[in-house]
Amino acid sequence: MHKHSKKRQSYVVLLFTAGDLHRWAPDACGKRHEESMGLYSRYILPKVVHFTCGLKPNMRQREKVVPRARGRILEVGIGSGLNLPYYDAAKVSKVWGLDPAPEMTRMAKQAAGFLPFEVEFIGLPGDEIPLEDNTIDTVVVTYTLCTIAATTPALRQISRVLRPGGELIFCEHGSAPDASVRRWQDRLNPIWKRLGGGCNLNRPIPALIEAGGFRIKDLDTMYIPGWRPASFNYWGSAVPR
Ligand SMILES: C[S@@+](CC[C@H](N)C(=O)[O-])C[C@H]1O[C@@H](n2cnc3c(N)ncnc32)[C@H](O)[C@@H]1O
Repeated sequence: MHKHSKKRQSYVVLLFTAGDLHRWAPDACGKRHEESMGLYSRYILPKVVHFTCGLKPNMRQREKVVPRARGRILEVGIGSGLNLPYYDAAKVSKVWGLDPAPEMTRMAKQAAGFLPFEVEFIGLPGDEIPLEDNTIDTVVVTYTLCTIAATTPALRQISRVLRPGGELIFCEHGSAPDASVRRWQDRLNPIWKRLGGGCNLNRPIPALIEAGGFRIKDLDTMYIPGWRPASFNYWGSAVPR
């Protein structure tokens, strides 16, 4: 096995083990486990998410979708702002960056500091978008539909704020086409979700988008380089039905 793959797998095993300690000593770990998960979510997880979402293969995916955004743009789940450098400034009038996690938004604010367009941050989840109906030209969502707990209400809100002719542009990882990879996605999902701040490995992304009231206009898929259970990507655009 390649040296780097071995190293990466060791990190994954270490993370899974750390997250599952309380199962082996529930009484001793009970309250302390909750506290440490709180600290983990606040201080470690944002950095882990920023690091993993910022890996080269993911950044290449951003390059494929984000420059398509135009006009008044809403990014749902803006995270640490990794998409910001990929917007085509000539086509952007303003970006609203929505995310319920202040630790992520803090990083995004730094990334937005030197951009030639305005970015306004909204600290709310995707099912509480505080913008007027029919006012947004493009909604961008990348590596976030895996994490949003209730995707249909969030997609309904996205549909509400999009103006007629407006588009949802997406790039997400999700359910793989190969049965063997899917089996691993299903097996690992419970622990992955706990450690990954609610991220699911196995969501059927196009079906979720359609269930939220959209028609898919164009769709590409492939395994991007990396750990296969987390690397099957779906990207493209969709419009409200
Ligand atoms: C894996 S990160 C991806 C961040 C960013 N979109 C990117 O591509 O790097 C998932 C993001 O979804 C955000 N999130 C979680 N629940 C959400 C919700 N209900 N509505 C909107 N964003 C949410 C998290 O706070 C986190 O920033």
